[in-house]
Amino acid sequence: MVDVEKWLCRIMLLFLSFHSGTGGTQLTLTPPGFIETACFNSMFWMKLDESFLQKKYLRIEIINHAVVTVLPDKEVETRCGYVLSEDVWGNRIFRASFLGCHVTNERDERFTLTLNIKVSSFEDMRAPMTYQRVLSCPYFPWAPREIVCEENYMEVSVKTDVPVISDVETEDWMPALPETEKVAYQVWQLIFYSPSGRKTTVVSDASKLGYSFNNTLTRVFLRSPYSTNESEHSVANGVTMSTVSSTSMYKQRWLLLLIDTTVSCPADGTSFTDTVIRWTVPTMIPRLVLQAHTFTSLNVSMGVGGKRIENPEKFNYVLENNHTHVGITIPIGAFGGRFKSTVSNGIYGMTWSIDLFLEHTWSDTDWQLTKYTVIKPITTPFMPQIPTVVNNTIPETRVFDVMLGVFLPDVTLVILTIGGIPLTLKEAEQKNYKISDTPFPTGMKGFKLEVPFDDPIVQKEYVNKNETKYNLRVNYTLNVGPEKKLYHHFADIECIIADIVLPEGTGYCDKANMYLVLPTKDIYKYWSLHVGNRPLNQATAFADGYFLTANDTHLVLQVPVFAPGIIYEEVSFERIQARFDLTLKKIITMETVNVFSIRCSFYFLEFVVCYPNGIMTVSAVMKTVPSIDMSKTRLKDRTCKPKEFTKERAFFQFHVSTCGTLVKFEGDHLIYENEISFERGILPVQGPPTITRDPEYRLTVFCYYSFKETLTQRATIFGSASEIPQSSGFGPIMTRSNIAGHRRVRQALNVMANIFTDESFTETYGKHSVPSIYLWEPMLLEVQLKDEAPGMELYLDNCWITESEEFNSISQWKFIANGCEDQTNGFVNFYSVLKSDRVKYPKHFKRVGVHILNLPLRKVYFHCTVTVNISPCVSLNSLPCKQCGFGRKLDQHSETLPINHGYVVAGPILILHPDQIKEMATHKS
Ligand SMILES: *[C@@H]1O[C@H](CO)[C@@H](O)[C@H](O)[C@H]1NC(C)=O
Ligand SMILES: *[C@@H]1O[C@H](CO)[C@@H](O)[C@H](O)[C@H]1NC(C)=O
Ligand SMILES: *[C@@H]1O[C@H](CO)[C@@H](O)[C@H](O)[C@H]1NC(C)=O
Ligand SMILES: *[C@@H]1O[C@H](CO)[C@@H](O)[C@H](O)[C@H]1NC(C)=O
Ligand SMILES: *[C@@H]1O[C@H](CO)[C@@H](O)[C@H](O)[C@H]1NC(C)=O
Ligand SMILES: *[C@@H]1O[C@H](CO)[C@@H](O)[C@H](O)[C@H]1NC(C)=O
Ligand SMILES: *[C@@H]1O[C@H](CO)[C@@H](O)[C@H](O)[C@H]1NC(C)=O
Repeated sequence: MVDVEKWLCRIMLLFLSFHSGTGGTQLTLTPPGFIETACFNSMFWMKLDESFLQKKYLRIEIINHAVVTVLPDKEVETRCGYVLSEDVWGNRIFRASFLGCHVTNERDERFTLTLNIKVSSFEDMRAPMTYQRVLSCPYFPWAPREIVCEENYMEVSVKTDVPVISDVETEDWMPALPETEKVAYQVWQLIFYSPSGRKTTVVSDASKLGYSFNNTLTRVFLRSPYSTNESEHSVANGVTMSTVSSTSMYKQRWLLLLIDTTVSCPADGTSFTDTVIRWTVPTMIPRLVLQAHTFTSLNVSMGVGGKRIENPEKFNYVLENNHTHVGITIPIGAFGGRFKSTVSNGIYGMTWSIDLFLEHTWSDTDWQLTKYTVIKPITTPFMPQIPTVVNNTIPETRVFDVMLGVFLPDVTLVILTIGGIPLTLKEAEQKNYKISDTPFPTGMKGFKLEVPFDDPIVQKEYVNKNETKYNLRVNYTLNVGPEKKLYHHFADIECIIADIVLPEGTGYCDKANMYLVLPTKDIYKYWSLHVGNRPLNQATAFADGYFLTANDTHLVLQVPVFAPGIIYEEVSFERIQARFDLTLKKIITMETVNVFSIRCSFYFLEFVVCYPNGIMTVSAVMKTVPSIDMSKTRLKDRTCKPKEFTKERAFFQFHVSTCGTLVKFEGDHLIYENEISFERGILPVQGPPTITRDPEYRLTVFCYYSFKETLTQRATIFGSASEIPQSSGFGPIMTRSNIAGHRRVRQALNVMANIFTDESFTETYGKHSVPSIYLWEPMLLEVQLKDEAPGMELYLDNCWITESEEFNSISQWKFIANGCEDQTNGFVNFYSVLKSDRVKYPKHFKRVGVHILNLPLRKVYFHCTVTVNISPCVSLNSLPCKQCGFGRKLDQHSETLPINHGYVVAGPILILHPDQIKEMATHKS
């Protein structure tokens, strides 16, 4: 063969120079290693390298003079004894039986086959490269019977040197036998035995049934597909065998030749475990051995990929045979086999394949020697191999490091879909993601992907207190195996690291304020600030009387000690210990992350502190001249005495449900009111009051609780939350005495009310007499703010008439509601106030006339809640300022400031009704 090849090369070189550029059939010099040929048993064997055929189309032409047979063609291959298949490495393998079509047979000793190998890049085989091969093999001697079980056919050939049937010397027969070759094969007849009966055909008819039958110089052969109508499946030692039982018959006048051309091949016999492939074939095939007791197994050998293996144990193969089976056990993954990746139902997995053959020779009396060859490519069932995602991320590097594996080398990564964006590997690399094929020592590989945490494609979420969750979602698209099937694998990797620095606050205090300083970095990105459950921003800060400032790096919050939101931890005669909590909450979940607390002690002489649990704490200052004995001060309920006192101050603490405290709803507020008064020493102790030396001392104290504000964490500080107010209140102190006090502390408004005799508002009714007016006369009320700065303006919020002095007595006749005249009960009219001797600052006065014609009362008191604000009229260019219309609603925010609220009562006045007048008249007369 080698000689032939050299010779061919020379021819081809010549051809090259002749045919270049003609566009016709070109004979080309074979690339080295592309074609490998060998003689294998009674077959030609040729391998065409996979690397050369990639993405190309192959055609093999069998040439016999003018006749050209073209492969691939499954039917022709089976009929002619050819196999064109692929080995486990993807190389194309061509095998042809020496007894196949178009084989030149020289005396059954040398066999030659000529073929053209055509390779084209086009499916229609345009412009092919053509390589011619002449395969030539010697084969001698043949065994009397040779059986080949190929992938696609079974073939039996037998010597026509018929078995000895008598002891008679056969010399005389011999000269006649060569004649058989010259006899037209049609003279032969075939008798098939099948379960359905016996069928005798001439050779041409047998060919129509799919069989090939012919004779050579010394042999006849029958080739059969695995499944024909005449074939029979039977089980021998547990292995299914496909058998065609036949007798070939040659008749010539006085000569009758009967030859058993039965062929039987295994149709299965493979089994698999996780680790091995087993293949068994019966040692003795009953249909091929008629006299079992004469059977002797002579030799068993095996081969892999067309090569005989002399020492199977060297490759961990196990070849065993006993009197029932010949068995081959191959560990999966052993030498000679190959893993292949594939995708089945969307699942990645692999198969392992190996091309085996088995050769068994035996003897028996009928056939002397039989050579039995089975060629069997074996592939394991699909073995799922779920890839895993290995997270090799080292958080400190802030780079996701993800490995997807393990895969066979026949898997390639084609597309990465990260965060929903499909990227080719090139695009991914342009985005600075690192992708690499990582080989493992086992020969497998993985795909390593690196993506920085800070890449926009990575999802980020603020979690827990100071952590960020980085989330990388990758959908890998892989090309799998020789078939390049698409496979998707999804990986969701997250990494949580504490990389958020929580702001740290610092606090400090002055005499009347607490301050909190916070760095502003990231604050509004992740968090919001809250006081209680109210968010802190410029508007709410302003409304609560806080002062919020910020520079580039820090914010500073100033909180006055009596502002809402303050928690009073200790209120005593000596000091007020107050705390302010600012809560840092996550914007998304509103979860509290941190609470900044400042705690300070303050020293005030006069104050009211209203606890959320309804405890009122009041420190009252002695303001009278001559001084009074503060120990004798009392609440409305005279049994409620100061808890502590000095010469200058008295300290009361009581619950709003005790000590005669009055309660009232107003707008959004619950208002509790009590009064601190002094029991004047009156002489004589019994009898009508006459002389008193002690000055009058009366302080009204209030607690306002907003019932809009329901939640308060402060209640917990004082233990059991009370049933009454839910929020911390604030409370002004009203000096009801008209005796000028000392320098007032900020909480108390000095407001007084008087009833005037006429609309000039110059003369009040005498102090010690009870004024009386006629029902048809207007009642003229003036409310005056004392001791305030000129810029402040007094407003009447709500005013009403009752029969009693009590703040919350029922049966009220409203005449001013929310700062405006309420005309529902009668006629109400504001009077303008001009500067005069008595009126230094008109804005400190409000005058109102009330005329209620059907008032059923005989004695009335006027009640007013008031507000003092910076006058908006100043900023509005001193427009004439009426009570309504301007001002009141301009500045809603400051309404909640405790300093601005007050309350006055005036009265009583006797109302003279017409019937009384008649009475008086009759009385007089
Ligand atoms: C096999 O048998 C079936 C049914 O008897 C028949 O239709 C078919 O043609 C036969 N095949 C051959 C190749 O003779
Ligand atoms: C049988 O063999 C002869 C000689 O090789 C050949 O000419 C003939 O075509 C063959 N017949 C068949 C049916 O293959
Ligand atoms: C013969 O070999 C086969 C396959 O190796 C095995 O299954 C069987 O048990 C063996 N029989 C005996 C009798 O050892
Ligand atoms: C991954 O991509 C494939 C193809 O686009 C899609 O069918 C599959 O649902 C994706 N997997 C996930 C988890 O998104
Ligand atoms: C990936 O690894 C990092 C670092 O070891 C770890 O913090 C993270 O929880 C891991 N993520 C997953 C999804 O396993
Ligand atoms: C995050 O918080 C944990 C516990 O709350 C703390 O141990 C850790 O030091 C914090 N890390 C940073 C960076 O602030
Ligand atoms: C911002 O205010 C803080 C707190 O008052 C102060 O410490 C810091 O120096 C100020 N920064 C600038 C840039 O003014």
